[in-house]
Amino acid sequence: MADAKRIDGKAFAADLRERVGRGVAELKVATGMTPGLATVLVGADPASQVYVRSKGKMAAELGMASFDHRLPAETAEEELLALVATLNADPAVNGILVQLPLPKQIDTSRVLLAVDPDKDVDGFHPINVGRLGSIAPGAPLDFPVPCTPLGCSMLLADALGSLAGRHAVVVGRSNLVGRPVAQLLLRANCTVTIAHSHTRDLPALCRLADILVVAIGRPEFVHGDWIRPGATVIDVGINRVPTVDGKSRLVGDVVFAEALPVAAHLTPVPGGVGPMTVACLMYNTLQATRRKAGLPFVAV
Ligand code: GUN
Repeated sequence: MADAKRIDGKAFAADLRERVGRGVAELKVATGMTPGLATVLVGADPASQVYVRSKGKMAAELGMASFDHRLPAETAEEELLALVATLNADPAVNGILVQLPLPKQIDTSRVLLAVDPDKDVDGFHPINVGRLGSIAPGAPLDFPVPCTPLGCSMLLADALGSLAGRHAVVVGRSNLVGRPVAQLLLRANCTVTIAHSHTRDLPALCRLADILVVAIGRPEFVHGDWIRPGATVIDVGINRVPTVDGKSRLVGDVVFAEALPVAAHLTPVPGGVGPMTVACLMYNTLQATRRKAGLPFVAV
């Protein structure tokens, strides 16, 4: 079989960012509003620092205002809640992102609940989780939807067109990725199976998938013989693994070289789902600002 067509998330994300940038410019002309994104990082986790920096940089590149808040690792929950309340009340802030994970003295669900649902550009507030969980098939996504799942669904729609009737197997049930991806695939009229650590005979289940979305955070867990010939594989994993020369490299949750000759479409790591997350955050921030301005929903 011919090698899988690589799904170029890097190129798609660059195009999406360009469309968002145009949307920002149009919004400024039409309303005088500049979308504002506030990022909040508690502690100094190196990976989180890299993510938050890239979010602020991207916002500025697209003509948005960016407000960067750093708090020490020992910050008390009440202090973080006070900052969230300030950002909720700030008219220059249209989107709030509290980088996860939070230090253990902080109750994450309390913080997510405190973010104004209209500014919840992560789509993690229970109101937005509930909106996605109860959405009608094909209904517009006119509320914030978690960024990585949104990116996965955009890549799938671009690669396959209609997803109706396809069997999608989602490996992983996290609130960040697995569950919201499953909801988006249901909305797109897939038949959805969610697999997790207690699933029996995972390889056999994966082989039933027309669309296989893997989001478990275990390096090169899914092998080529788990994949049905002609399937579309979305690898959400980003795992840094050591190499023999003492350095490290990024790998996904799927053994790429094994999947390549079997799948019809496949996302690489890096350059697949990864770049979509930040681009979708920018998309969500623009959409939140448009809603604030009372403009009708249009997918940019
Ligand atoms: N940590 C890892 N991914 C994410 C994300 O999409 N949003 C937030 N807020 N934190 C994260």
